[in-house]
Amino acid sequence: MFVSKSAGVNDKNHLTFAGLDVVELAKEYQTPLYLMDENLIRENCRLYRTSIEKYYDGNGLVLYASKAFSSLAIYRIVMEEGLGVDVVSGGELFTAISAGFPAEKIYFHGNNKTEQELVYALESGVGRIVVDNLTELSMLNSLAKTMGKTADILFRIKPGIDAHTHDFIMTGQIDSKFGVALETGEAFDIIKTASTLENVHVVGLHCHIGSQIFDLAPFEEAAKVMLTFIAKIKNELGITITELNLGGGFGIQYVESDTPIAYDKYMESVSGVVKETCKALGLALPKILLEPGRSIVASAGLTAYTVGNVKNIPDVRTYVSVDGGMADNPRYILYQAEYDFEIANKIGDEKSETVTVAGRCCESGDLLGENVHLQKAEAGDILAVFSTGAYQYSMASHYNRLPNPAVLMIKDGKERVVIKRESYEDLIKNDLY
Ligand code: LLP
Repeated sequence: MFVSKSAGVNDKNHLTFAGLDVVELAKEYQTPLYLMDENLIRENCRLYRTSIEKYYDGNGLVLYASKAFSSLAIYRIVMEEGLGVDVVSGGELFTAISAGFPAEKIYFHGNNKTEQELVYALESGVGRIVVDNLTELSMLNSLAKTMGKTADILFRIKPGIDAHTHDFIMTGQIDSKFGVALETGEAFDIIKTASTLENVHVVGLHCHIGSQIFDLAPFEEAAKVMLTFIAKIKNELGITITELNLGGGFGIQYVESDTPIAYDKYMESVSGVVKETCKALGLALPKILLEPGRSIVASAGLTAYTVGNVKNIPDVRTYVSVDGGMADNPRYILYQAEYDFEIANKIGDEKSETVTVAGRCCESGDLLGENVHLQKAEAGDILAVFSTGAYQYSMASHYNRLPNPAVLMIKDGKERVVIKRESYEDLIKNDLY
């Protein structure tokens, strides 16, 4: 019935999430409110971890792509589950380190890292830096030299794979701002250059072909392309690549028609392809890294809003306005992302209306969904939006000076605040006259 495994209905006919009454939580903690199911997050982490053990003899590491949701609590959870993390900025790195995340299990990404961030990464002793381009390579080498260090690096490669997803979240093709291209020889040249530098050590290659992908084929193809390139590097440059990071991008269910692949199925088929291809190319099996973000946290999240005005425009549409919108969920305005909605206090009622769910920002495009089938909405109802655990809080803004909502983590039927709701004072704390 629901797209999220964490959802249910109680005897009051209220929606529950991770076993708790969403209406009660909304009342107690106010709205908008993000809820997260810690047990499901942990289950997802374990699913990835055990699939590497089962299908690839444990010769790998799962890195949680923390851009999906970055906070002290999530780094702690992921760390306890034995995963590494992918961070993409000094801010994410700082949050991970502050949560006590072991630096050697942190992979530092980014297509335009600053000098300050590279120094911070080297000082912190991050496990790997994923180098994006030549400017970064030479900057990193000279910073490492000054600091008397050698950085273990991976290169971000564009394998030239079309992963059939939204243009803005497709990253593996040649026209992408991320990484160096295989087709043009750029990737080969940068590795050759790196091999002449003293303060970087090339250990691996990375690719990430896109996000919200439902097919296995592009992942299998990417693995083949990358291994073929690893063989070329070995044969022509005498460099042995020991780590292959295949990125993230595994799709999740936002609406009923989404059909995600089972994540252990991914590892089963990709490890089969890796083993076969390595055998054919005479390569030793590399350590495999995966970087799931969305598929660890998205379905484990729900946002609760309070309905305000319901504006019926005869023969046009009905706007159901809520007390949040693009500031806490910019995914509709950015990607026309679809979601599943329920009125949490009217779960038993029939979804008799077709409405547009509107946010409260001064922007006509500030919608959360159009053609949404919903129970009849009235002011004061609690509207629940599913699958909001990824790329919502992390992409939230203060547009119209809206304070960011609180995040509640629910574990074993008990909730705790892991990010406090911002106050008006928080909004001006860095303002000066
Ligand atoms: N690794 C790298 C290098 C990435 O760039 C990304 C996502 C991931 C891993 C994790 O991908 P995931 O498993 O979460 O799909 N804001 C967009 C998604 C942007 C994804 C950016 N990179 C959205 O809300 O759909």
